[in-house]
This record gives sequence, structure tokens and C-alpha cells, in this order.
Amino acid sequence: MVMKTKTGLLHAEIGKLAQKKEIEKGMTNRLVISGLIACAILSATIYSQDSATIKSAIPAPTMGIKDAYAGKFLIGAAGDIPRGYSEAELANIKANYNVVTPENCMKPQPTHPAEDTYNWTTPDALVQWCQENNIKVWGHTLAWHSQTAGWFFQPGVDGQPLTRERAMERLKNHILTVVGRYKGKIIGWDVVNEAINDGGTGDTENLRNSPWFKAIGPDFLTLAFQWAHEADPNAQLYYNDYNIEQGAVENKGKHASSMLLLKRLIKEGAPINGVGIQGHWHLNTNIPDVEKAISNYASLGLKVSISELDVTSTGTNSGAFPVGGGGGTASDEAFVQQAQVYAKLFDIFNRNSKSISRVTFWGISDRRSWRSGQRPLVFDGQLQPKPALQMIIDVGQGKYVAPRP
Ligand code: G3I
Repeated sequence: MVMKTKTGLLHAEIGKLAQKKEIEKGMTNRLVISGLIACAILSATIYSQDSATIKSAIPAPTMGIKDAYAGKFLIGAAGDIPRGYSEAELANIKANYNVVTPENCMKPQPTHPAEDTYNWTTPDALVQWCQENNIKVWGHTLAWHSQTAGWFFQPGVDGQPLTRERAMERLKNHILTVVGRYKGKIIGWDVVNEAINDGGTGDTENLRNSPWFKAIGPDFLTLAFQWAHEADPNAQLYYNDYNIEQGAVENKGKHASSMLLLKRLIKEGAPINGVGIQGHWHLNTNIPDVEKAISNYASLGLKVSISELDVTSTGTNSGAFPVGGGGGTASDEAFVQQAQVYAKLFDIFNRNSKSISRVTFWGISDRRSWRSGQRPLVFDGQLQPKPALQMIIDVGQGKYVAPRP
């Protein structure tokens, strides 16, 4: 009963805020806006992470996020789980998620720091814990310009400069070894990460001049997909990138480049199953672009994941803060706005669930986020629910319909 009342109150406040935004667009009447904001804050304060009195009054969520979307798509979280995670954090993961992405430990740098050295301790522990707890694992990532050890691109012990053949041999060995080790235990991989440059017009693929691109050429992507498929023919193989939804409505920019790239990969016979739209978003993210991008990728016969979801509650863009720190604060109004954006996004995912395989949050709590200072997740730094959490659950359960742009 209590929960129903609070949930209803939250929906009402989100609605008021949406109205306020419309007013703001039309007439910028500061006095009216301030009045409405004050009204929203008053009630929304019960969900605030910064108010200790109110925090104790927050009821437990009605169900885990994964249960609210059961049968539609998987709900995931990123982290190098379980090492260093508290019992409360592990219980939170079991309650809310049915798939985990290793946030760092399966990247090329940590797994393969030298040509003859692999580190398996952390990734093995993650896979084992997930198996014991009936949680799936998504692999991240195989070919990337970042977090990849320098040796991959240096001359060999024979002192000869890096040739295309040697670079291919190194990437192939890496992929066959890592994917092969977890064959049958990892449901899919972000095979290539972030290969497209920022800032293009969308007339070309606009590939990043990465070390892999320089050493092998534009076919490094197709080759990487082929090697991953060779290592585990049953694994789902995805291309993963950020901001690739941007420009979808107007068919320009990074989205248009991603469509050109994906069409080429398909034409070249790359065994690609889907696209990961990372989803590092903010309060002013262009929501129509998100929906259009999902349908554009689906039209190519690809599945879509929202692979690294977070919505910053302060600032409009990135800016990483140290894990567990950052010192940023966010207002109650920002958390209500954040809930509204999350609700709109999940409304899109819900309506397009046939095209979507997985929605993964990039971290489990604001303390465990690469953008901790911008409070981007649905559990606060103390693992308490924020307004967004119940909104997301209610959208999944058909109890709240977000206003459409
Ligand atoms: O492991 C070392 C530790 O030994 C050292 O003491 C410490 C000192 O700074 O650094 C630790 O490494 C850090 C690592 O995270 C593990 O915590 C790196 O400095 C830090 O740069 C690294 O950040 C990660 C970042 O990728 C690197 O690019 C973030 O945690 C991770 O969330 C982020 O994830 C990426 C995705 O892979 C791809 N998409 C964008 C996303 C956000 O940047």
C-alpha cells in the first residue's frame, strides 16, 4: 500500500516536471518554473540520496529490474565481479541483473599484457561466480584502440618492424585464446569496440586511425569477427560503440557512418549478430535518435544491445571521475529529471523489445561508476534506490507510460 502511494507520487512528480519542461520551452517564465520545480523537489525529496531522514523511508523496490523485463530482454550490469565487492553489492547484483559484463578485466591490456603472458585470475573468478549464481556473462572486448598493451604493435623480438601479417597473427592469437577459453561460458562478445571517429559528416565510414587500422587496414574488423566465430561458433558477436545513435533521425554523423560500416561488414561476410549502442547519456540526450537508431540497425537484420547504459544527472557530457570519488553533488530536481529520461529510454526499449537483446548498466551504483561524480546510475553511492529505479520497473510492468517526445 505504502509503495503504491509513493510510486503514484513519483509518477505525478515526473509528470509535473514534464509539463514544466514544455512551459520552459514555450515561454521561459522563470517564476512559474521555479514554483513547479519547488513543488517537484518537495515530494521527490523522499527519493533523494542526500537526505538521510527521507532515505530511511524509501521502501524496497517492488521487484528486481530483470524481473520487470523478463521475457523481453536481459538486464545487465558491468563490474569486475566478485572480487572486492561486498556481500550487499553481490546480493544487489543477484536481485537485479541476469547478465554481467566485465568492466575491465577481459580487455586486452589486463588479459594479455605481454605476448607470452595471460592473466586469468580475475576473469576466471567472474565467470565462475556468474555460473554459480545463474547469471550470464557478456565478453568485453577484443579489438580496441584503448586498454591494449603496447607489445601488440611493436616490433617482434627479431627487431623487424610490425607487418600486416604479424599484426593479424597477434590479433588472431589473442582472440582465439580468450574467446576459446570461455567457449560455451560467455554468451557473446563486443568483438570490436569504438572503431568509428567522432565528428564526421556521415558520408564515409570515418574509421578511427587506430593502431589496428594502421597495421591491418579496414578489414581488421571483418577478420576479428571471423576469428571470434572460429573460436566459439555459438557466441553472439557484436560491434560496440558510443554516440552511434547520434544523427539517426537525419541520417547523418556518426550514426550514418555506423550504418555504412555495418553494411560493409555484412557484405564482407563478417559473422556479426548485433550492435551495442553504448548509451553513455545525459539529461538532454536526443531520445528520438535512440529509437530511430534501433530500428535502422534492426532493418539490417541485426539485434541491438544498450551495452553501457548510464544517464548523468549533472552536466551534459562525459567527464570521468575517479571510482568511489569525484565529490560531485546532484540536486533532487536532477534526480527527478534523470528518472524521467530513464523512463523515456526504457519506454523505447520496451516498445522495441523484439529488436533488443540486452540492456546493461555500466556499473551497479553511483560509487561504482566511471562517472561517479555525475551520479549516473539507478542506485546511489550507498546502494539505495534512486527515483529512476522504480520508474524503470513500472515502465517494464506497464504501470507507467512515459511521455513521448
Ligand atoms: O587497474 C589499475 C590499477 O592497478 C591502478 O592502481 C589504478 C590507478 O589509476 O588504475 C587502474 O586501472 C584503471 C581501470 O579503469 C581499472 O579501475 C584505469 O586507470 C582506468 O583508466 C580504467 O577506466 C576504465 C575505462 O574504461 C578505461 O578506458 C573504466 O573503469 C571503465 O568503466 C571504462 O569503460 C569504457 C568501456 O570499456 C568502453 N566504452 C566506454 C567506457 C567508459 O569509458
